[in-house]
Amino acid sequence: MAVARMNMNCSIQSSLSCILKPSSFFNFRATHFKNRLFPSRNNFIAPKRSLLCTCSSNSNALQTGEKAEPFVITTPLYYVNAPPHMGSAYTTIAADAIARFQRLLGKRVVFITGTDEHGEKIATAAAAGGSGPREHCDVISQAYKMLWNDLDIAYDKFIRTTDPKHEAIVEEFYSRVLANDDIYRADYEGLYCVNCEEYKDEKELLENNCCPTHLKPCVPRKEDNYFFALSKYQKSLEEILAQNPDFVQPSYRLNEVQSWIKNGLRDFSISRAAVDWGIPVPNDNKQTIYVWFDALLGYISALLEDKDQPNLQSAVSLGWPASLHLIGKDILRFHAVYWPAMLMSAGLSLPKRVFGHGFLTKDGMKMGKSLGNTIEPNELVHKFGADAVRYFFLREVEFGNDGDYSEDRFINIVNAHLANTIGNLLNRTLGLLKKNCQSTLVVDSSIAAEGKEFKDTVEKLVEKTRIHYENLALSSACEAVLEIGNAGNLYMDKHQPWSLFKQGDDASEAAAKDLVIILETMRIIAIALSPVTPSLCRRIHAQLGYSEDQFDNLNWSETKWGGLKGGQVMAQPKPVFARIEQIKENENGGAEAPKKVVKKKEKKKQVQGVMEA
Ligand code: MSP
Repeated sequence: MAVARMNMNCSIQSSLSCILKPSSFFNFRATHFKNRLFPSRNNFIAPKRSLLCTCSSNSNALQTGEKAEPFVITTPLYYVNAPPHMGSAYTTIAADAIARFQRLLGKRVVFITGTDEHGEKIATAAAAGGSGPREHCDVISQAYKMLWNDLDIAYDKFIRTTDPKHEAIVEEFYSRVLANDDIYRADYEGLYCVNCEEYKDEKELLENNCCPTHLKPCVPRKEDNYFFALSKYQKSLEEILAQNPDFVQPSYRLNEVQSWIKNGLRDFSISRAAVDWGIPVPNDNKQTIYVWFDALLGYISALLEDKDQPNLQSAVSLGWPASLHLIGKDILRFHAVYWPAMLMSAGLSLPKRVFGHGFLTKDGMKMGKSLGNTIEPNELVHKFGADAVRYFFLREVEFGNDGDYSEDRFINIVNAHLANTIGNLLNRTLGLLKKNCQSTLVVDSSIAAEGKEFKDTVEKLVEKTRIHYENLALSSACEAVLEIGNAGNLYMDKHQPWSLFKQGDDASEAAAKDLVIILETMRIIAIALSPVTPSLCRRIHAQLGYSEDQFDNLNWSETKWGGLKGGQVMAQPKPVFARIEQIKENENGGAEAPKKVVKKKEKKKQVQGVMEA
């Protein structure tokens, strides 16, 4: 076992005051952005999506009957040492997009998220903020819920590891593992990273025994602890990974996991003698259960409703095993090595898949609470709206790899894709339809597209989108939907229906059909992009004359060409997505006239627009 030889100088930077007055990593003094459709919202509104979310999965269950295939997806349970930052939001946004896609497929989705509230790191953060740990956890876990609400995250379950039903599950699980002879008592001496809540091998540390993730020295610890016999499961884990290569994704992360196992698994300590803020070890209340041995069980206890018996059997019957654990690459070892071994020991099934995505970085370093180099997600959402934030991070960062945030890129992408390619196309088409066809479709979209290659192009791109979503290639899914939008814009520019209407007779008839074709394309985009930008897609769908209920009950099969029917009346054209305008401060501190940040060639399209988004 590794032996420690060093000092710790590890400051936990969070305090409760951060929540009440969040500070931003980015300096917004030089530039000010304004998105007309999204005025600042009150931070403390009641959660709406979280209430709706159960309905959304239920509505699909009703639609598809009780036999709908389950899809249980989880995010990590976030530490409540500090309020959420953009890194934590990233995993949750991705999980929400995947959950929404699976609901569109008609699956019975259970989307689990929550907060990890025990352990030394949390107790220290609470003390630093001058409050008790319980009160501290209440405030921070509420900050997570509020952000998820603002980001349109439709989770089904939010588990807090301080929930009594979770504590009962952890105790029962511990007893099962103990009964299986996988827990023993021993002394441990090693180097501990409080931010990772993990003992480290000296060879994985940087100079001065600094943790490579948190860049802070690890602290020497010597304790009399209970241990989990991980080494017993080395062979089984090797076999499982060899037989199920899809268990860990992306594939390059599987290689990493396999090499950890090959290098030999060491038993790990699952209790802490010096930490009071945790679940007491059954039969030894002088120790508390190690925070990871506790938190991973949250994925199972989250399945319980308040009315259910808080035991493993009933929790498991409600949806275990999980279909997909979505995590950041930093916690892969816990999910792909420790967790499966723990489950095997307790005689429970293993999750089907663990996907470890990359980091959002700032200057190449992982953005995080401990390093203090975070982007403030509330600030982004309140300035630009949830759709822009969701779209940017899912489109810009290839899922699995690291990605850097740049405000210029954010504005360019969001304006070009959502305001121009999609929003403006819808708006100009509806404007032409209003002017020339009393906002009414002249014919079914299937008839309008007869004999046209365009329909095949769209159908192929929709299929491409579906496959990308299935493979969790979220950026490529966004790209494929954008290709549909680009195809629509090209079609419009090529056929120029506004000129055809001026010619009258047959030309007008062709122009009216062209508008139906573009609006059918918009209908398909509203479904295909709804996992990523749900509010924008709801507005697009409403503009096409559909009700809220119809949007809530959409199914992926409706991306098939032919949904719009002749006689359907469209809503009055109204911008669905406002361009972000950048206002630069002049030297005297006053605001200069708004400066559009879109490229010149994109402006051209807007001139044609009947109404600019
Ligand atoms: N509490 C544990 C997880 C227990 S799960 C049973 C934990 N919490 S955490 O709050 O520190 O981090 C959780 C996750 O947040 C990371 O694994 C990752 O998914 C996400 N991220 C935190 N910082 C991130 C970035 N800078 N970039 C992308 N995701 C990041 O670990």
